[in-house]
Amino acid sequence: MLLIGGPGSGKGTQGTRLAEIYRVEHVAAGDLLRAEIAAQTDLGRQVSDLVTRGELVPDQLVLDLVVPRLLAAAAAGGFIVDGFPRSAGQAAAARRITEEHNIAAQVAVNIVVERDDLIARLLHRARIEGRPDDTIDVISDRLDVFDRTVAPLLEFYGERGLLVTVHGSGPPEDVTAQIVHAVGQAME
Ligand code: AP5
Repeated sequence: MLLIGGPGSGKGTQGTRLAEIYRVEHVAAGDLLRAEIAAQTDLGRQVSDLVTRGELVPDQLVLDLVVPRLLAAAAAGGFIVDGFPRSAGQAAAARRITEEHNIAAQVAVNIVVERDDLIARLLHRARIEGRPDDTIDVISDRLDVFDRTVAPLLEFYGERGLLVTVHGSGPPEDVTAQIVHAVGQAME
């Protein structure tokens, strides 16, 4: 399963919950990138400024980081991936590779939340966690990047009949229930 949604839409929150329900691995592109930055690897140094500014990391770097995790997770039973793919280029490349291994995503869930709610959530998180990209200016830029890039992704999965959309503004448990219901229907 792929989780698509704006910054703060609950991809990470839902990814954790859904991974427990479906007993598969939760792979979060942002977490993997932040781990590389924290460990000061070559990749981490290359992407640090981009992530801090809320810009997308080049497709090939993300593919090299995320796809091996998906292959490993699939071998262990499956995956919920959040924050990947984030461009039509990533989607096409990931689809090609995962289809070769017969482990392509079966469903893509688009979690929709109003922009004002997203900003409020991320500013609230900023006071608790202090993520460097949770400043008001970078939040605004991240939302703009998402708005500019999401349409081709939705089209990619929509035209393959893999896309379901849920409203992510209710309590997390309600959003999880909506996703489980929508995914169940989509996969009947
Ligand atoms: P990433 O870490 O994926 O950040 P993001 O997309 O901005 O999403 P967030 O992690 O901020 O939010 P989320 O949707 O996971 O929501 P969460 O559950 O945390 O990516 C960071 C950066 O890495 C990107 O900007 C880019 O630079 C780079 N990057 C990552 N992937 C890439 C890719 N594929 N290609 C290129 N570059 C890439 O929830 C947010 C807050 O809201 C939390 O405090 C949570 O407790 C709260 N919350 C969650 N659900 C609810 C709810 N239902 N009601 C109330 N509060 C809620």
